[in-house]
Amino acid sequence: MSSIDLAVARGAHTARRERAAAATLHATAAAWTCVAVFGQLLFAAYVAGFYGRAALAGDYAAWNRVLPHGYVAGDAAGNTVVALHLAFAVAILVGGALQLVPVIRRRWPRAHRWNGRVYLTSAAIMSVGGLVMVWTRGAVGDVSQHVAISVNALLILGCGAMAWRHAVARRIDAHRRWALRLYLVVGGVWFFRISLMLWIVANQGPAGFDPKTFTGPALTILAFAQYAVPLTVLELYLRAQRCGSAASRYAVAALVGAATLATVAGVGAAAVVLWLPRL
Ligand code: HEM
Repeated sequence: MSSIDLAVARGAHTARRERAAAATLHATAAAWTCVAVFGQLLFAAYVAGFYGRAALAGDYAAWNRVLPHGYVAGDAAGNTVVALHLAFAVAILVGGALQLVPVIRRRWPRAHRWNGRVYLTSAAIMSVGGLVMVWTRGAVGDVSQHVAISVNALLILGCGAMAWRHAVARRIDAHRRWALRLYLVVGGVWFFRISLMLWIVANQGPAGFDPKTFTGPALTILAFAQYAVPLTVLELYLRAQRCGSAASRYAVAALVGAATLATVAGVGAAAVVLWLPRL
């Protein structure tokens, strides 16, 4: 074999390895997305089933079994903010799942655009309403958790604005990157719930926090990690997808694979402990 043949064979081998690595990365990301969509739809079913059913029966006080500041007699404005927060939670969880389905984007671009507008509007309403709830009405947890969720609200508003700007300018690659970031930061509160349940199950009880006051280092760390960790993994994924070597793509695929297993466990724990018993 001449040295040219050898170089060509090596090049073909490297290209095959890179294609296989890209396919593995794509497959693990698709697996995580399926698990996340399923887990978020379960969360939406719980919100509609528990809060929605109580509201339809006119029994708003039942909300307080879960939300200490959910329904306050005589505070019509505050109760409306909470009700809108819960209604838009369902809309945003279902809408986010629909935006991720590739066939909808390809076959029905108008539906993708309209659902996107509804999604962005819901995200803004949720964030601003959430800030009002945290800082005027009171919420469980301490000030560190309130700061963390407020940063989450600002991230939602910022990523939403960027995703919208790039979509309008038809910069589809940049739009996709910002829309994925938006999806993850919107999912922050869901990440918090599944991670907390996984943490409690793994430790066979509350560890690193006081369940009575709902404060402690474990909760403070989790409140920031709920968006910092997913955003970091996403950046590694986007980088590996764009310009990574085969080795870095396999490494990120292994990380996403591990995240998928953790997500399965977290969704299972949250479903059993938090959501299904209240339905
Ligand atoms: C955008 C995605 C969001 C979703 C899907 C969502 C969903 C929910 C749900 C379902 C509840 C009821 C609690 C439960 O039953 O688990 C809730 C409560 C609450 N949310 Fe959100 N939320 C989101 C974003 C935010 C943001 C960004 C903030 C704050 C800036 C916020 C602040 C609150 C507060 C203060 C409560 C009441 C908690 C308490 O009384 O202690 N939410 N949210």
